[in-house]
Amino acid sequence: MNTQLPYYHQIGKEVEVFEHAYKNKIPFLLKGPTGTGKSRFVEFMASKLDKKLITISCHEETSSTDLVGRYIIKGAETIWSDGPLTTAIKQGAIIYLDEIAEARPDVIVAIHSLTDHRRELFIDKLGIIVKAHEDFMLVASFNPGYQKGFKELKPSTRQRFIASSFAYPEEKIEIEILVNEAGIEAGIAKKLVNIATKIRNLTELGLAETVSTRLLVDAAKLIHSGLPKRLSVEVAIVEPLTDDLEVIEALKDLCNLMI
Ligand SMILES: Nc1ncnc2c1ncn2[C@@H]1O[C@H](COP(=O)(O)OP(=O)(O)O)[C@@H](O)[C@H]1O
Ligand SMILES: [Mg+2]
Repeated sequence: MNTQLPYYHQIGKEVEVFEHAYKNKIPFLLKGPTGTGKSRFVEFMASKLDKKLITISCHEETSSTDLVGRYIIKGAETIWSDGPLTTAIKQGAIIYLDEIAEARPDVIVAIHSLTDHRRELFIDKLGIIVKAHEDFMLVASFNPGYQKGFKELKPSTRQRFIASSFAYPEEKIEIEILVNEAGIEAGIAKKLVNIATKIRNLTELGLAETVSTRLLVDAAKLIHSGLPKRLSVEVAIVEPLTDDLEVIEALKDLCNLMI
């Protein structure tokens, strides 16, 4: 067993839900904006269940070949090399397809037979079907596109997973996360969380994504290592959010009043 679990503060019932999904080998979809603890949660659960975790960060070039495997040339020979999905299926690992909607459509096609009762993968280049190991589980994350620029996930794909929403935690919990992750005092953590709450409520700014817990953790770490508070907030919270100079100035003024 793993003695040292990654730090994860449970937000709702996601730990129990994941455990039961794992027991029943039902694919699990984590929905939510960036920096809300999705990856940390999967690392935590894999560790808690004592399973190997294989993470793939999907992007628009990610193809089924990248996941399933390919022939590679080695010296005078051409040999087959399993991709991470095939490895996970054979070893009984948990595979985490981060931002699955970004991947090419053939990735979705490739995982279909793995996400239903068949639990098998067809490797077309080898002409074989590989049955998934008993312990294999598929986990994916998806950033719902409230804002343009994010890709959608088709209902026929979504309905192959059970799903859980991730959002910014309530203030008390977020303060605890900052204290734990960065080692700062609760008083400063509270100020950072207040800043985040304020900016999150400024919907009129039309930011593509607002202040995430990740940005707050970064600001807290900079403060903890001795960078002045206002500068830390500026570079870790304000600047990553927007390139609009007027908005930057307005947010800086706002933050300076709060820390
Ligand atoms: N519930 C949580 N428990 C512990 N840390 C968290 C939690 N939520 C967010 N964090 C912190 O925020 C950071 C970003 O979270 P991450 O899991 O990478 O987000 P996502 O995968 O949703 O983009 C983590 O590295 C961690 O410091
Ligand atoms: Mg992530």
